[in-house]
Amino acid sequence: MDKKSSAKIIKFPEKKKSSGTEASVVNMAHRIDQLKTEKHLICEMAARTILQALDAKDNYTFKHSMRVCYFSMVMGRELKLSDRAMYDLQLAALFHDIGKIGTPDAILNKPARLNEEEFKIMKNHPQKSYEILSGFEVFQKAALYAKHHHERYDGRGYPDRLKGSKIPLFSRILLIADTFDAMTSTRAYRKGLPYSVAFRELIELSGSQFDPGLVKHFIKGMRKEESKKEKEFFVPLMNRYFDKKAA
Ligand SMILES: [Fe+2]
Repeated sequence: MDKKSSAKIIKFPEKKKSSGTEASVVNMAHRIDQLKTEKHLICEMAARTILQALDAKDNYTFKHSMRVCYFSMVMGRELKLSDRAMYDLQLAALFHDIGKIGTPDAILNKPARLNEEEFKIMKNHPQKSYEILSGFEVFQKAALYAKHHHERYDGRGYPDRLKGSKIPLFSRILLIADTFDAMTSTRAYRKGLPYSVAFRELIELSGSQFDPGLVKHFIKGMRKEESKKEKEFFVPLMNRYFDKKAA
């Protein structure tokens, strides 16, 4: 066989094989995208189902989680987080207190302040949130952020007494959103504070409980929100509007 005919024979089947491979690679990529979308939708369905279970068990914590999500999103927008990061922050906020599913009702719904023993049991909830979420691949990051949402900036929080920038950024955001909601919500044993008073408390606790830079971003974002005078906020994952008023 001369060089010319040999090249012809080899080139033809190679070209045919290569276009077939390219087509199957394109098909495979398309299928992977499809599977990713399906997986994503299934995970979101699972997430909504878990949150509905939380609502059935403890309506206060469910609504609190929705508001913490809203406050966290306000902070996230001020920080100009990417869409991907906003999505992770949304998940972490919605699920930060999911561990309260394991807290006895007598403690969860106690119409008075908790005593020392009850508070000790209540303090297990970030670890329980971590245990529930970390078994689910999509919730790995949310699990970590939830675990540390009660760490204080000065290192006197729980469960691991992490300090300053050692605390994951999203956990520091969650603590501010969480505490702001606790301050402004009306409970059986005390009336919620007006936003303006709660802002002052956040500033006073900057550097001890909270990351001072984040408090500034939060208050700036919340003042913009207040000026909109909207009564409701939207939670994308739930595809629902919720009342801003925390009764
Ligand atoms: Fe919490």
